[in-house]
Amino acid sequence: MATPEKLAAPLARIAAIGKHEGESVEIHGWLYNLRESGKLLFPQFRDGSGVIQGVVAKNAVPAEVFDAVKTLTQESSVIVRGKVRADKRAPGGYELDVSEVQVVQRVPDSDPYPISLKEHGVDFLMEHRHLWLRSPRQAAILRIRAEIIKACRDFFDDRGFVLTDPPIITPAACEGTTTLFPVDYFEEQAYLTQSGQLYIEATAMALGKVYSFGPTFRAEKSKTRRHLTEFWMVEPEVAFATLDDLMELAEGLVSFVVKRVLEKRRPDLQVIGRDLGKLEAVQAPFPRITYDEAVERLQKGHQDGKLETRFEWGGDLGSPDETFLSAQFDRPVMVHRYPAGVKAFYMEPDPQRPELALCVDVLAPEGYGEIIGGSQRMASYELLLERIHQHNLPEEAFKWYLDLRKYGSVPHGGFGMGIERVVAWICGLEHVRETIPFPRMLYRLYP
Ligand code: 4AD
Ligand code: MG
Repeated sequence: MATPEKLAAPLARIAAIGKHEGESVEIHGWLYNLRESGKLLFPQFRDGSGVIQGVVAKNAVPAEVFDAVKTLTQESSVIVRGKVRADKRAPGGYELDVSEVQVVQRVPDSDPYPISLKEHGVDFLMEHRHLWLRSPRQAAILRIRAEIIKACRDFFDDRGFVLTDPPIITPAACEGTTTLFPVDYFEEQAYLTQSGQLYIEATAMALGKVYSFGPTFRAEKSKTRRHLTEFWMVEPEVAFATLDDLMELAEGLVSFVVKRVLEKRRPDLQVIGRDLGKLEAVQAPFPRITYDEAVERLQKGHQDGKLETRFEWGGDLGSPDETFLSAQFDRPVMVHRYPAGVKAFYMEPDPQRPELALCVDVLAPEGYGEIIGGSQRMASYELLLERIHQHNLPEEAFKWYLDLRKYGSVPHGGFGMGIERVVAWICGLEHVRETIPFPRMLYRLYP
């Protein structure tokens, strides 16, 4: 591998190359593609921020430079120097008139880069996920993911929420015992966290308004385009909040995130071919329907032959039900007050109808389904203890959680938003496997 020489021209990033129009710059990157036309070579370089087309004219550069580019192999690493020229036809609006190329490492012809520019099957691409990440589309998705994460942080930071990090290794379940990943913790049984919620209820009682942002784990035997076994969740928790407050917070967060991505990541949305009009429609307030109304809509859908099975009151919404409901709105829809029986043990019952929980799921449009789940939490010590017993949960492990209801209990609540589901929806992807660098799915670790 060649040692890069000292900078001979200012280092430019392709995404901001317009700042250097008419100047000579240096680009540090890789060869993405190479076309040839007579005495002209059109190498495309990528540097992680974008792709730019270079032009190398045989009569304008030394023979070594022309030959070095002509024989350059895909994904060879290079330092390129050249002059930036505006060109309306170029995808990013600029081209580079190449004057010099220093090859840092040439990918040998005997062992070429495995992902060529022709179509590959998803299995092949997933096996090569560590390299697939370099494709312009995958890189655009990862930049949008980073923007979404930053937008979530900014949203809460700017509204007086304090980031408090819950533990990842936990002694008890939060979202039901069937989807726990066990961990051997010095010969004691522990689990990877399913949600930081129980812990941030404690920090919310200390700080008022808090959030957590971290990896969460579900040993879920669900092989769908929405399920990962390891995913990232942002969870706000607010003392004194009611269900209405939570719905307002949720629609505020989601519309803020979409707006931010439209502002900052428009070129990336275009690279992946996203329909921007669909995202521009995502403005608060979002429609709110009760679970009862959702059931009516689902039953009508069945009657009209649009849903295979008739949905019965009392069940949890499945993926096809969520897809059906969310396809009826041009913006996220908030479904509230599900039957307590299908929801978690900690949810506050509706005082008007105690068989319902004061909870909300936010379903993204275009059939994407649930992106947020949240609720008001049970504030009464006695009722919570009763629920813990009903759900056969170990009282000892929840003693500290019950304390929160003994010492200055208040109505409170929060929600969790799954980042990968949001990325899939905002990017318009078919599957969550493309929303995180290295997805963990049922029975599969890539790589
Ligand atoms: O609805 P869930 O299970 O809610 C909770 O965990 C609450 N304790 C959160 C809270 O109130 N603080 O999960 C919340 C969100 C879902 O709406 C979904 O976006 C995402 O987490 N999620 C998943 N994402 C990818 N793969 C999975 N297997 C997911 N399970 C949940
Ligand atoms: Mg849920």
